[in-house]
Amino acid sequence: MKTLVLSASAAVLSLGMIGSAAAADGAALFKSKTCFSCHGQDANTPIMPMYPKLAGQSADYALNQMKDIKSGARNNGQTAAMKGIMAMVSDDEMKAIAEWLSTL
Ligand code: HEC
Repeated sequence: MKTLVLSASAAVLSLGMIGSAAAADGAALFKSKTCFSCHGQDANTPIMPMYPKLAGQSADYALNQMKDIKSGARNNGQTAAMKGIMAMVSDDEMKAIAEWLSTL
């Protein structure tokens, strides 16, 4: 059990170290998956007042919201706008984008 916990935190640590590579991927994905078209190039200037600013958001929080919007667990009038696009975004891609958002 102890080994499990230790290797889990090692994984978190190494994730932190490759942070810049993940950040680059996240930025590219944010463009290629068209996220910017609603949330703004800088993830901080959404096209509609009701759309959220994402820059600087906690990576864990952002990732969970993306997963919930994709699965439908988070569902309100505004999530419908984004849900369709999430069908093209994998868990790994969501993770990379979430990491990048948290660095802004
Ligand atoms: C068609 C417009 C649109 C596109 C494209 C879009 N989103 Fe969204 N996104 C929204 C809207 C609207 C919400 C707010 C949903 C709500 O009100 O619950 C949202 C919410 C979010 C949230 C949760 C923010 C929070 O504070 O809870 C994240 C994270 C997010 N989007 C990331 C992305 C990413 C990453 C992409 C690209 C893969 C993307 N979005 C593409 C419209 C869009």
